[in-house]
Amino acid sequence: MPLGQRAGDKSDSRYCGVEVLDFPAGEGLPAVLNHSLASAFDFILAPLVDPNYRPTPGAVLPVSASDLVLGPAQWSNHVVGKISEWIDLDAEDERLRLDSELTLKQEIAWASHLSLQACVLPAPRRPSCANYARAVNQILQGLTNMHLWLRLPLEKSEPMDDDLDKVKNNSQMSEKVDSWELWNSFRLLCDHSSQLCVALDILSTLPSINSLGRWFGEPVRAAILQTNAFLTNAKGYPCLSKRHQRLLTAFFNHSVQVIISGRSNHNVSPVSEGVLSGDENYIEEAPVRHALSPYLDYVAYLYRRMDPLPEQERFEINYRDFLQSPLQPLMDNLEAQTYETFEKDVVKYSQYQRAVAKALVDRVPDDAVSTTRTVLMVVGAGRGPLVRASLQAAEETGRKLKVYAVEKNPNAVITLHSLIKLEGWESLVTVISSDMRCWNAPEKADILVSELLGSFGDNELSPECLDGAQRFLKPDGISIPSSYTSFIQPITASKLHNDIKAHKDIAHFETAYVVKLHRIANLAPPQQVFTFTHPNFSPDANNRRYTKLQFEMLPDTGSCLVHGFAGYFDSVLYKDVHLGIEPNTATPNMFSWFPIFFPLRKPIYVPDGSPIEVHFWRCCAPTKVWYEWAVTTPSPSPIHNSNGRSYWVGL
Ligand SMILES: C[S@@+](CC[C@H](N)C(=O)[O-])C[C@H]1O[C@@H](n2cnc3c(N)ncnc32)[C@H](O)[C@@H]1O
Repeated sequence: MPLGQRAGDKSDSRYCGVEVLDFPAGEGLPAVLNHSLASAFDFILAPLVDPNYRPTPGAVLPVSASDLVLGPAQWSNHVVGKISEWIDLDAEDERLRLDSELTLKQEIAWASHLSLQACVLPAPRRPSCANYARAVNQILQGLTNMHLWLRLPLEKSEPMDDDLDKVKNNSQMSEKVDSWELWNSFRLLCDHSSQLCVALDILSTLPSINSLGRWFGEPVRAAILQTNAFLTNAKGYPCLSKRHQRLLTAFFNHSVQVIISGRSNHNVSPVSEGVLSGDENYIEEAPVRHALSPYLDYVAYLYRRMDPLPEQERFEINYRDFLQSPLQPLMDNLEAQTYETFEKDVVKYSQYQRAVAKALVDRVPDDAVSTTRTVLMVVGAGRGPLVRASLQAAEETGRKLKVYAVEKNPNAVITLHSLIKLEGWESLVTVISSDMRCWNAPEKADILVSELLGSFGDNELSPECLDGAQRFLKPDGISIPSSYTSFIQPITASKLHNDIKAHKDIAHFETAYVVKLHRIANLAPPQQVFTFTHPNFSPDANNRRYTKLQFEMLPDTGSCLVHGFAGYFDSVLYKDVHLGIEPNTATPNMFSWFPIFFPLRKPIYVPDGSPIEVHFWRCCAPTKVWYEWAVTTPSPSPIHNSNGRSYWVGL
């Protein structure tokens, strides 16, 4: 039974599981499952094989339950397999190593046979886990649907067993191991397999906020919340610290499922022996309470008290982390559907209206309003929303306007004509069906209004188009926008990396994507990349750019992996009226632009405390514009998209 109804949330985080600590032999497993489901848990994390088992030739695997005791849907929807925790594939002892590998493979084979959706792999027992990763990597090659969740404590952990002796003798190793480092080396060894995910054990203490933040860009599927992490409230019920509450809310927002684990510390009756032993005569009394029900109640309370997803988020939910090719409105003609989406963004047009109103007031003093008619040209008018915004600004300020609506898409021009007729704007607006770069205007404009901005500002070739259009702007004329600046920040984005990797070519790693970023970790604040200012009458003006940036990771982050760069823009429309998606200054409630993502062919490991140095180029040729990008610190990447071979924007 889901934790609750949160309007708009259809993610897995609605489902809560419970870990089965004891081996449910015989008929125990179905009984434990039924009891857990009846107590409002949605699934169990359960051992599949007797933990006392060690491989012996000819032995039958002592599984917890025959495949016949549950239906296929029950196995797949309600059971996550727990691989035996004793396995140690990197042990010094060869016998233990070999037994461990064989058991791991047998248990995974059994879980696959049951069609489980996922199995939890025990945490690596030592910092060096290459043999464990090798075995898992082999298994991953043969898995079709099942995912493997590597279990890791959400803290720096002590090395285990015999490594401890080494630690004592080696001061360099005496520091605790950062679980993220363990995860990182494991997934690198497994070549970023998309079926290898993470299950984090949430304990009573939590690491720093920024180091926690790294996990939001990783494939964390489950947060295993230990009962020891709970506090006790005044009435004796379990509750969580504010930091734990915030973490859990963040997990809910990132589609991470909670699994409650541990013994009850809150004086509630333990799970009945009858349930665990699978006693046939055992009859459950209503209402069914699991020993861990009070913890589930608290988790459900945290889930339910979250605000409903805002309407815009609900609308955009299916776009989360979905890679899209950026529009090419210059080279291609946009479709009606695309214009319709633009036109719904009330905030964007009201910002333009404010900017035009301010420009009109500056341009025409109050005592000249009756004698002055301002010439305003909307270049790239689409189906006319900026024409409407400009006319409304004129009405609002009492200024007289003569408008030219210039549009190169012949289909949008048809709509423009009918709009003008419908609105009775014939005496105010002239429609020009032309590319602004080659139109011979009959007169010069006081104000040029355009919206040719992409997610990265200049990536839809606004600079090249406006260079062409400024021929017909008066020398003291105003361009709205007057400038725009692109921004980037390094991010961890394992989902995006894997989606691009699935194409199995370099070209997809040298392409920029428009994407509603969701499961990512922002590793450093965004920095400015390129700025363009309009009009620009300087004889030396050109649209090539090169920028080198150095990012310092947020303090206490620890080491991290950079999969690429999130890109944004901010634009000054006129004076203090701006519009943009740069996270620190983003225009609220505007939805026309998702961020852009520039991937890296090979993710870059950034050691704790190291900066990352990145280079971005905007390159221009007679028929196309493209970006190239590269990292030089902490380790060099290839220069991506050399000569625009994989991704370019057509002029
Ligand atoms: C991003 S859309 C904006 C449309 C409209 N102004 C709006 O805000 O909804 C850009 C428009 O500019 C047009 N466009 C792009 N380059 C152009 C050019 N060189 N000359 C004329 N129109 C152009 C495109 O066809 C498209 O209709």
